[in-house]
Amino acid sequence: MAIVLPERQTVLHSWCVQNEWDAPTIVGGDGARLHTDDGRSILDMSSLAECSNLGHQHPRIVKAIRAQAEKLCFVTNAWGAEPRAQLASLLLERTGYAGGRVFFTLGGTDANEHAVKFARQASGKPRGWIVTRDRSYHGASYAAMALSGDARTRAQADPEAFRVLHVPPPYSYRCPYGTRTDAECGEAAAARIAEVIGERGAEKVAAVLMEPNAGTNGIIAPDSFWPALRRATHEAGVYLIADEVMSGFGRCGEWFAWQRYGEAAHPDLMTLAKGLTGAHLPLGAVVLSAQVARALEPQMLYTGLTYCGHPLSCAAGLAALESYLEEDLIGRSRALGKAMREQLRRMELRHAVIGEVRGGHGLFAVVELVRDRLTREPLAPWPQQHPALRKLLQEGLRRGVSFAARGNLLLLAPPLVIRENELAEALDLLDRLLAELAIDLKGSSS
Ligand SMILES: Cc1ncc(COP(=O)(O)O)c(C=O)c1O
Repeated sequence: MAIVLPERQTVLHSWCVQNEWDAPTIVGGDGARLHTDDGRSILDMSSLAECSNLGHQHPRIVKAIRAQAEKLCFVTNAWGAEPRAQLASLLLERTGYAGGRVFFTLGGTDANEHAVKFARQASGKPRGWIVTRDRSYHGASYAAMALSGDARTRAQADPEAFRVLHVPPPYSYRCPYGTRTDAECGEAAAARIAEVIGERGAEKVAAVLMEPNAGTNGIIAPDSFWPALRRATHEAGVYLIADEVMSGFGRCGEWFAWQRYGEAAHPDLMTLAKGLTGAHLPLGAVVLSAQVARALEPQMLYTGLTYCGHPLSCAAGLAALESYLEEDLIGRSRALGKAMREQLRRMELRHAVIGEVRGGHGLFAVVELVRDRLTREPLAPWPQQHPALRKLLQEGLRRGVSFAARGNLLLLAPPLVIRENELAEALDLLDRLLAELAIDLKGSSS
């Protein structure tokens, strides 16, 4: 057998500086825990990339993949496949998109690209503009980078060239609209989108694409935002696409984050991935409302990738949906999210470095770290990461808990199956690590 070289010498890893990559090798997992090749157990407080909602190696999903593999591994979309049909039906039922359709993709990036294609085609605005937010993330293909409001990749994909317009986000802690309350910030952000649509001409704008509340980049829109945005897009006759790639499947305390705002807040299209299979196999989806589906019905679709709607992935998705239902994981996320938020709020009283704790509608919360609570000066300018926070993450891992951060924000998003005692253990450790971080900060400023 060939000698196996260390992965850090042979694999090009994503979203990192290559010669800084130095991660443990994971050989197994169960529940909220991952197991390393040197026999350690790590508590996963981020569900890897906020995707392992059902924990690692969920037995029901592993079994479903195995059973499907024995029957049929693959046929293209040109043929029907049983698990594909079953999953589409269940998804339409769960999303409340009766009479709609599902287009299966390989993940979140191509779900967003396809949602944009469908919105343009169904609206009869083939080159229509798409409105998205600054400080958003919608994927890493060229079109998805243009959709994303991410300064780091702006030079690679010019939004104008992809006919994408960015607007400031409803970031109420640092409201770009200068408002005083959360509610006002959400309303001002929605009003700005209505204005941008008006300036460009509603007949030239195909869709607005946004996350309903919890944002991948740590911004959580106030509750006033999404309903106001839904009203504004209805009035303008512009489709609303909800990117639920991260926020879907219980992460925000509902099946889908927009459901927090009731039926009237229903988007025209939504994109899914991550929690759809709980990351056991790659799968994404665009769910189209009956109206959008009807508009596309007689049209030719010049799109699709070889592995769209892969039967193995659909079988995993079906087992995942059954598990969310049977284990009441959405209710569990809501209850544990509330407990997590309360404990984080208690930490906020103890640690001056915490500027704001937000979220916790479900098992997704953000802790924003600041140098000064009064001025709200961030620990490091976005999207940089302060060395003391890097040290906190390393120290957490060394003591058996994996935390995630974006810039100066800590993102807490454990699997929805995490046990109460595991969550308490992780938050106790975070409490101690924040105390140590404060000492490090004092040391570095004196
Ligand atoms: C909100 C959101 N949209 C889209 C994506 C892209 O999904 P994928 O990495 O599956 O392509 C992500 C991934 O992090 C995401 O969080």
